[in-house]
Amino acid sequence: MRLPERVTLCEVGTRDGFQIEPEFIPTEQKIEVVDLLTEAGLPRIEVTSFVSPKAVPQLRDAEAVMAGIRRRPGTRYAALVPNDKGASRAVDAGVSVIHTVVSASESHNLANVNMSIADSLAKLGAVGQIAARAGVAMHCGISTSFGCPFEGDVPVAHLERVVARLVDLGAAGIGLADTTGMANPRQVTEILERLMPRFPGIEWTLHTHDTRAMAIPNILAAMACGVTNFDASIGGLGGCPFAPGASGNVCTEDLVHCLAAMGVDTGIDLARLIAVSRRVEQIVGRPLPGQVMKAGPSTRRYPLPDSVSTRLNTAGGQSGRVGATRA
Ligand code: COA
Ligand code: ZN
Repeated sequence: MRLPERVTLCEVGTRDGFQIEPEFIPTEQKIEVVDLLTEAGLPRIEVTSFVSPKAVPQLRDAEAVMAGIRRRPGTRYAALVPNDKGASRAVDAGVSVIHTVVSASESHNLANVNMSIADSLAKLGAVGQIAARAGVAMHCGISTSFGCPFEGDVPVAHLERVVARLVDLGAAGIGLADTTGMANPRQVTEILERLMPRFPGIEWTLHTHDTRAMAIPNILAAMACGVTNFDASIGGLGGCPFAPGASGNVCTEDLVHCLAAMGVDTGIDLARLIAVSRRVEQIVGRPLPGQVMKAGPSTRRYPLPDSVSTRLNTAGGQSGRVGATRA
């Protein structure tokens, strides 16, 4: 397998996850989770979004959250914005980078931000200017890049036009988002092989949702194409309130575990990450989809049942090795 030595993860649970929680998560708990994620070694965190509080009331406390977090030097704290008003708020709140949102399909863009794609791109032009004036990079996410829950297939030529416009507007990075888990590894490969050579110098990110259990296969396909930036969500939180059937992002600790098992470094402390996930389960008050927090890492060992250990010992030979256990 062709794998990079190291990948960079961006945690999006406090944005993509908390935005869709039925109950408002208190500001101090949002801050607590961001701080725990920082301490676990996440290099990038999409903390919140500066959107209309009428559209996403769950994140109406974005300023207070940004003001309350403890920032570690070197960690990138981003926020999602849809328009110039959001960009000004984000810059005033001291984000390290602005993440923007526009969809590759007209219907999802209208459902999500109440604008045509053309109107969104015009707003993002203003966002790019605000970001440039503030000396903050703009990374542009594209929802429904691999399919739309309303329209189905999204022509790749159409996606490519949106990417080209965003690059013209000054995007330093492009995030292809599989908003409702419609992508498959072959499609991810074909799209990346087409787009990546056309836009050199762009930092590519894959934003996956595990709606149909294909997030990690899609990430592996993207890594084989040379992508090294991935969004993920603690415990597998997440989902777009404006996309029917949306469910959680790829789970951060499951992805970190998978990468670590293959020798791909993320710089993240898995044990601490699992502890954060357990804390988030307490906060949201229900079990989260993450699997490694339930099963433990694959290095976990169980004591042998006595009956098996007796049989191994009487069989001799390998018993010393097989019988050695750790919890
Ligand atoms: N932050 C705070 N308030 C905002 C805002 C922002 N970024 N953008 C607009 N508003 C306010 C306006 O000031 C206006 O307020 P008022 O009613 O008190 O005058 C109100 O929201 C409506 O503004 P308008 O420009 O007409 O926007 P709209 O109602 O058409 O909504 C968006 C457009 C983009 C602001 C809204 O759809 C939105 O925030 N969507 C976010 C979607 C999202 O986060 N999806 C999940 C992530 S992919
Ligand atoms: Zn998402």
